[in-house]
Amino acid sequence: MCGIIGYTGYSEARGILLKGLKTLEYRGYDSAGISVYHPDFRECLTTKCKGRVEDLERKTSDIKGNTGIGHTRWATHGEVSDANSHPHKFGNVTVVHNGIIENYETIKNTLDVADKLKSETDSEVVAALIDRCFTGDPQQAIVDAVKKLSGTYALAVMFDSIADTIFAVRNVSPIVCCKNDDGAYLASDVVAIGGYSEDYFVLPEFSVAKITKDGFEISNFKGEPIEVEMLKLDWDISNSGKCGYPFYMEKEIMEQPRVIEKTVMSRIKSGLPDFSCDKVDDEIFKKCSAISVVACGTAMHAGLIGKHLIESVCSVPVSVHMASEFMYSNPIVTDDTLVICVSQSGETIDTLEALKYAKRHGADTLSIVNVRGSSIARESDNVIYTDAGPEIAVASTKAYTTQVAVFYLITAKIAYLKGKLNYEGVTRFISELQRIPEAVQSVLDRRSDIHHLSNSLLTAEHAFMIGRGLDYPALMEASLKLKEISYIHSEAFASGELKHGTIALITSGTPVIALVTQQYLFSKQMSNVREVQSRGAQVITFVRRSLKSDELKNCFELPEMEDEFMLIPAVVSLQLLAYYVASDKGLDVDKPRNLAKVVTVE
Ligand code: G6P
Repeated sequence: MCGIIGYTGYSEARGILLKGLKTLEYRGYDSAGISVYHPDFRECLTTKCKGRVEDLERKTSDIKGNTGIGHTRWATHGEVSDANSHPHKFGNVTVVHNGIIENYETIKNTLDVADKLKSETDSEVVAALIDRCFTGDPQQAIVDAVKKLSGTYALAVMFDSIADTIFAVRNVSPIVCCKNDDGAYLASDVVAIGGYSEDYFVLPEFSVAKITKDGFEISNFKGEPIEVEMLKLDWDISNSGKCGYPFYMEKEIMEQPRVIEKTVMSRIKSGLPDFSCDKVDDEIFKKCSAISVVACGTAMHAGLIGKHLIESVCSVPVSVHMASEFMYSNPIVTDDTLVICVSQSGETIDTLEALKYAKRHGADTLSIVNVRGSSIARESDNVIYTDAGPEIAVASTKAYTTQVAVFYLITAKIAYLKGKLNYEGVTRFISELQRIPEAVQSVLDRRSDIHHLSNSLLTAEHAFMIGRGLDYPALMEASLKLKEISYIHSEAFASGELKHGTIALITSGTPVIALVTQQYLFSKQMSNVREVQSRGAQVITFVRRSLKSDELKNCFELPEMEDEFMLIPAVVSLQLLAYYVASDKGLDVDKPRNLAKVVTVE
């Protein structure tokens, strides 16, 4: 969703701001803008428009100045238009804003500015409020203004009367900052500034940053200086381009053997799972009598796999919740409950709010997060970081498989601590886990076969995916991939449930993707495959090598693993299927319509 970038220093700001906005494009946006402080006119000059950053680039070729802020907007309040794009200026004040101000109508009426506003946004009202609060002290004006706001915000603010200075403040929505010899930078996302320094900090909530080319002054709302915790970026930003692939999604799919291995290997000691590098105490696993997993989208699908693994191996009950529904569904959370939040970005607002709810109700909390220092990571009692590195494509791939890899480790840990697996059992489980990268690589090496199979889906409007046991939640993820990037309506079904309604939709030529990996369910799954075949469905099968039979046509063979571990090579092969369909349809695979990578509004 919306992205923020800011720079003040010795170089021309325009190029740095545009580069930052391009890096933030992956979050999803519909318009973009920049404001640069003009030293001769002594004011912030703004250019903004709906459309792509390239459109903005063309309109700003003559902009000069060393200090500026920029924004990519994903519309919430008001249509997609030039006027509603950020930055917004009111009087002396120019702002960019991420988040949602819930009481903006009230503020607008109180300030009596309705006839002076140029946009329909909540953000312009914030500019008006800060301008009205300003009596000479910028930090005080910002504090006085944000105290009147309800909702979430990350704000970067410039004043015409204060040259070459940016101010920033936040509640929930993140702001990260860094510095090098050329100046100081801020952004909503570390990906946008990671190329400038590997040392950065997350602006603490309810503090104000004054940013000049020499660095940062951070104060709390009482005006007292505060220290910030410096973090080290351990992502290889130099590797963050497409590296020759046409889309980030393909690059990220191909990275999976390496990032799964990285996530797993640092957490195994003497053949046992070990979270000491994450400082996660065994006590939270020993103590829990129930687990609730809370997440959205793909991360929630990883949670469904976690449920299956933990319940079957550890006999601990696990409930999986869509984060947006969690606190409204009277969840049973006690001090024996371990709430596990899963999030690639660590910023999904619904997951963050659910985490806060769980803490208020006394649960132990553990988050599986990809982005270090993100809001969910900081709010959580315990964090296990996936080592997926930056994931840019909106459709999540390597984040999912590394989240699932962490669930295998958690399963092994709980099973060992609760005596459900002995040392031998756990080490066997862990050595199968260590085989996953090699199994995934064997799928990737044969990707041209999947490309070939994908051709039959190019003209499809609907597709159904069927599987049993672990294959069913794996297909829920595969189905999401297909629909989000190829726009084919796709649904995953537990095969046994088909005949209770959905089979009515199967007619001659209907595409059905069957996943056949679970040894113990093989004969039942085959009966369900025959049921759709006999009604004319065009079946593509992803089948474990040892289960392949002549009866199955249009097959992709999956490498042989234990039942519980088959799903990762299976999902990777189905990620590729979705990818080839979308790219062959000529679609913008990395930026599917209407979707955002980081969902910071409820
Ligand atoms: C968005 C993204 C999905 C992601 C979901 C949860 O919808 O497009 O790819 O799975 O948010 O995001 P999170 O960052 O919390 O994993």
